[in-house]
Amino acid sequence: MKLRTKIQLYTTVMIVLTLIVVNIFVYISFKNNAIRSEVHQLENRAINIIKELEKSNKTKRDNEEIIVNHLLSDGSVTVVDKSNKRKLQIMTKQQYRNLIENYKEKQTDKYITRGDHHFVMVSVPVLWEDKETVNLQIYENIDMKHESFENLKWILIGSTIMVTIITFILNMIITHSILKPIHLLINKMSKIHKTKGYEKIESVENTSKELDDLTDTFNLMMKRLSEQEEKEQSFIANASHELKTPITVIKSYSEMLKRFGKTKPEVLEEGLDAIHEEAKRMSYLASQMLQITSFHDQSKNEEVRSFELINVLQRIVKKLSVTHQRNIEFKTHIKSLNAKLNQEQFIQLITIFIDNAIKYSDKDVVISLNQRNKNVILQIEDKGIGIPAESLDKIFNRFYRVDKARTRKTGGSGLGLYIAKEIAQTNDIGIDVQSELSQGTTVKLTIKEQYIEIFN
Ligand SMILES: Nc1ncnc2c1ncn2[C@@H]1O[C@H](COP(=O)(O)OP(=O)(O)OP(=O)(O)O)[C@@H](O)[C@H]1O
Ligand SMILES: [Mg+2]
Repeated sequence: MKLRTKIQLYTTVMIVLTLIVVNIFVYISFKNNAIRSEVHQLENRAINIIKELEKSNKTKRDNEEIIVNHLLSDGSVTVVDKSNKRKLQIMTKQQYRNLIENYKEKQTDKYITRGDHHFVMVSVPVLWEDKETVNLQIYENIDMKHESFENLKWILIGSTIMVTIITFILNMIITHSILKPIHLLINKMSKIHKTKGYEKIESVENTSKELDDLTDTFNLMMKRLSEQEEKEQSFIANASHELKTPITVIKSYSEMLKRFGKTKPEVLEEGLDAIHEEAKRMSYLASQMLQITSFHDQSKNEEVRSFELINVLQRIVKKLSVTHQRNIEFKTHIKSLNAKLNQEQFIQLITIFIDNAIKYSDKDVVISLNQRNKNVILQIEDKGIGIPAESLDKIFNRFYRVDKARTRKTGGSGLGLYIAKEIAQTNDIGIDVQSELSQGTTVKLTIKEQYIEIFN
């Protein structure tokens, strides 16, 4: 069901139901009050008759005279004895002839309908001739009153129908004006959807805060999507560019091998070496790229648990110094340190920086772990080739390498620091790189206090 129809239907039904309940209440209260006031008048009349009967001589003639005096312009008085027999009946019209109620010990009243006529009756016990107790039943025709009840009923039904129609029309106008900006937004959004673009939408004029928020959120989403697509496009472009070189090398060497491989052993040797090197490079590139896509797997990023960081660092240092046949010094005053991070990602992060320090320097690499304020600073320092100042803000970009020719030889893909940045961001680790050309590079990683527990 459309939102518009829903709002219209719900509000109209609610208002009409409320109106019906209120109108029924008004009708019943009005009718009851009117009947009660008639009954009350009849009671007063009965009291007056009783008073006069007490004062009189209690002869049949006297009694009759008193009752005639008190007869209503349209009504009757009936005297009923204990055996429910009519002792006396005085009436203004024949319609009262059959009106008789059974004898009751107490005072009673009643609303009676006979055919098209409506009456109220009050019955009171009185002392009649010979001290006999009888019921004095006074009847009054209230057809006029009843007509006014009927009128009221139709007025209320009519007003309910009128209010229903008015509510429905007003509702239509209001919902239309409320939903108009939403429809405008939907139209704009679907236009953007059809053009497959990432356009922003202007906020609709004179609209509500909620719709402004919706527009802003939509625009933010569009911005994110367009950035994401741009990122993906450039990643694909960069990746295919990076893969092109090894593929070209493999292709040309394999062609050479086809032609001369069987006859010239030195060509065979060189060709196989080159193909093997490039294949290794491609496999490294592919694994790095896979690494990047795995960051989109949120569940992996959430595997956070506590581990002893110094132990882990010592293990990484040992492993890297053995594999690269290089001396790596590790210094710290901290005895033990528990870190609450994603251990796997932390190892990867440190490996990327130590790997660079080893790759871009010939001298020893120094790693130190110190406490500053309440945070912990992990420093990786090399005395290598350094990074030129103008490249410092680019080294974290994908596939960026300061010296492409040189890093080709060292086998770098230019993805290491990009991966490091992503890991640092997910684990809330700060990175600061200081470097001077031909002097060396110092990387400082800040692990915030909330993720660590230090034991000295
Ligand atoms: N410690 C360092 N000393 C000098 N230059 C560095 C250092 N670390 C990074 N760089 C420069 O920054 C570039 C980007 O580094 P990054 O680690 O992202 O890529 P890579 O080392 O070339 O390849 P990968 O790490 O993917 O194998 C490097 O190519 C290098 O030019
Ligand atoms: Mg690297």
